[in-house]
Amino acid sequence: MNGGLVEHESWAPPEVDVERANVARVYDALLGGSHNFAADRDVASALTAIEPGARDAARANRAFLGRAVRFLADAGIRQFLDIGSGVPTSGNVHEIAGAVAPDSHVVYVDTDPVAIAHSRSILAGDDRATIVHADLREPEVILSHPDVTRLIDFDRPVGLLLVAVLHFITDEERPGDLVKRLAEALAPGSFVTISHGTLDGRPNKVVEAVEKLYSRASAPGRPRDHASVETFFDGLELLEPGLVHLPLWRPAENDVPFEHPEQSWGYGGVGRKA
Ligand SMILES: C[S@@+](CC[C@H](N)C(=O)[O-])C[C@H]1O[C@@H](n2cnc3c(N)ncnc32)[C@H](O)[C@@H]1O
Repeated sequence: MNGGLVEHESWAPPEVDVERANVARVYDALLGGSHNFAADRDVASALTAIEPGARDAARANRAFLGRAVRFLADAGIRQFLDIGSGVPTSGNVHEIAGAVAPDSHVVYVDTDPVAIAHSRSILAGDDRATIVHADLREPEVILSHPDVTRLIDFDRPVGLLLVAVLHFITDEERPGDLVKRLAEALAPGSFVTISHGTLDGRPNKVVEAVEKLYSRASAPGRPRDHASVETFFDGLELLEPGLVHLPLWRPAENDVPFEHPEQSWGYGGVGRKA
C-alpha cells in the first residue's frame, strides 16, 4: 500500500483493477503463485479461514487438469482449446501436451487481463500455442476467432478443456447450452474435459460464506451439485470413472494422496464425442 493506493505491479497491464478481487488471481494466490494483489490474497485467506482445505482443493483441481491433459495426449489428441485457462503456473497445458507430442497445438482463452498478459509473455515466439482474449459466454466469437482457426483444425479431434470455469457462469447464462454449442463444433473422437466447483456435503454456513465472498469478486461463484454438473456431459460418452471428486479421477501413482477426496470442492470428468 502507498498513501491508500495499491501499488500497480510492473507486470500488471494498466487496465487491471487491483482494488477488486479477480477469480483468476484468487486461484493463483491459492496455488501459491505470484500474479495476484492484496484484494485477491484477502479473498484467498478468507476462503482458507472458512475451509482450511481451500489451497489443497485448488491444487487438486490443477492436478486433475494435468492428468486429464496427459490422458488426452496419450489418446492421440494434438490440439487443445483451453477456455478459462487462467494465469499460467506450473503444469501448463502446452507443457504437458508438448512433453507427450511436441507438435501439439494449444489455444488458451481467458477474460482476465493478467492471465492474458502473462500467457502472452510466456508464449512469445511459440508458433504452436497462443492466448485469445474472449468470453466463454460467446462461443461463436471463440470458434471463429482467427487465432483459434489458425491453430485448431475443427475437422480433426480436439481436447476441449473447461476446467474450473463453468462455475463462473450463472444458470441464467445457460452453461449447458454453451458446452453443447462448443461440443457441436468438435469432430468425432474429440474430448470434453470439465471440472466444476461443488459444495455438496458442506455445511450451509460454509456454502453461504463462500458465495458471499465470491460475490465481491469479478465473477460470482456458482457451485453446483453432482447431478447438475453431470448434465454438461449430455450427448457425450462419459468415460470411466465418470464424474467424480477431483482426486479420484484416474489418480496417478506419484500423486500426493488426498485424505478426504470429498472435500476437494470439485468434480471432474472427461466425455468423448462419438
Ligand atoms: C479458477 S481459474 C482456472 C484456471 C485453469 N483452468 C485451471 O483449472 O487451472 C478460472 C479462470 O476462468 C476465467 N474465466 C472466468 N469466467 C470466464 C469467462 N466467462 N470466459 C473465459 N474465461 C473466464 C478466469 O479469468 C480464470 O482465469
